[in-house]
Amino acid sequence: MKRSVIVGVGRYLPKRVVTNFDLEKMMDTSDAWIRERTGIVERRFAEGEETTSYMGAEASKKALNMAGMKAEDIDFIILATLSPDYFFPGSGCLMQDHLGIPGIGALDVRNQCTGFVYGLAVADQFIKTGMYKNILVVGSEVQSNGLNLSTQGRDVAVIFGDGAGAVVVSAANDNNKGILTSILHADGKHHKELWGKNPGSSSRPFVSHEMIEEGSIYPHMNGKSVFKHAITRFPAVIREALESTGYTTKDVDLVIPHQANERITEAVQIRLELPREKVYRNIHKYGNTTAASIPIALSEALEEGLIKEGSLVCLAAFGSGFTWAASLVRW
Ligand code: ACO
Repeated sequence: MKRSVIVGVGRYLPKRVVTNFDLEKMMDTSDAWIRERTGIVERRFAEGEETTSYMGAEASKKALNMAGMKAEDIDFIILATLSPDYFFPGSGCLMQDHLGIPGIGALDVRNQCTGFVYGLAVADQFIKTGMYKNILVVGSEVQSNGLNLSTQGRDVAVIFGDGAGAVVVSAANDNNKGILTSILHADGKHHKELWGKNPGSSSRPFVSHEMIEEGSIYPHMNGKSVFKHAITRFPAVIREALESTGYTTKDVDLVIPHQANERITEAVQIRLELPREKVYRNIHKYGNTTAASIPIALSEALEEGLIKEGSLVCLAAFGSGFTWAASLVRW
């Protein structure tokens, strides 16, 4: 049977660094509050040409470089984002244009924090059926210009940042490596716990002055509910991925969780009884980059030598929807 193997990984982070002290100048918050509640020290905010599709393309070029491939070798694009350049068309189409590879299919995945893991699962299935051989799976987000950067929006605004990460997934006949399983879950009854309500087609009119005045154009989060669900769903989906392939937490070399919040990551690590060094973190540098956080972290973990040939790596995410998902990969 064909296996889907990650052969290239890349990332792009905007140049502008925004520290907690910079946020102190925009809203009533403090470096101490943000560090203690989230573990975040700084994040990146996109500027100028740094759109979701542009950053996704830049991360893709690095992933292609690592894979020793040209953009022309790719036969399908999957882009996960909650912050597309436009309401439509999908940013996957724009990213394809940036990469200069017209004609190949481009699919946007709108699954927020789990979007990259969902996208990887879709790529895995296309490869296993033989439909495609080399697929780009990308997570890219420009969230900064959609945040309420005043005291009113501080609970959400201090958490999120911008960035992009990409992988090249290729078909291989090697049974010893690649994506071993993907587990995907959702429970839509919680959709109001973490959402961007407006503008949207459920509102009539689609957009209004009232939406801007009441602040419903900004993301809203029930922080306590998100925390409570995240710390149970994350460990559950990681265990499910391991058990379905005959492994236990003792077999894992590295868990790369979606970088939601350092306190969530710490709770997950403790609940799984894993040593700290087996659960990757870089949220202090970039904040929560939603669909981009896992491929960015994967790219850095590889550079730091934390993943080697044969390593068992678990990618896992929880987020808006609610959705939660995991992918188990033998490197
Ligand atoms: N700076 C200073 N004070 C703030 C800020 C801020 N940025 N944001 C909120 N506060 C205030 C609140 O207004 C509140 O003030 P009050 O007591 O006068 O009413 C006080 O801080 C405490 O607020 P709480 O909401 O009770 O703070 P809590 O300890 O619950 O922490 C937090 C809030 C960090 C959001 C927490 O609920 C949490 O960690 N939730 C998880 C949510 C999360 O991290 N999501 C990540 C994104 S979603 C995802 O990726 C899955």
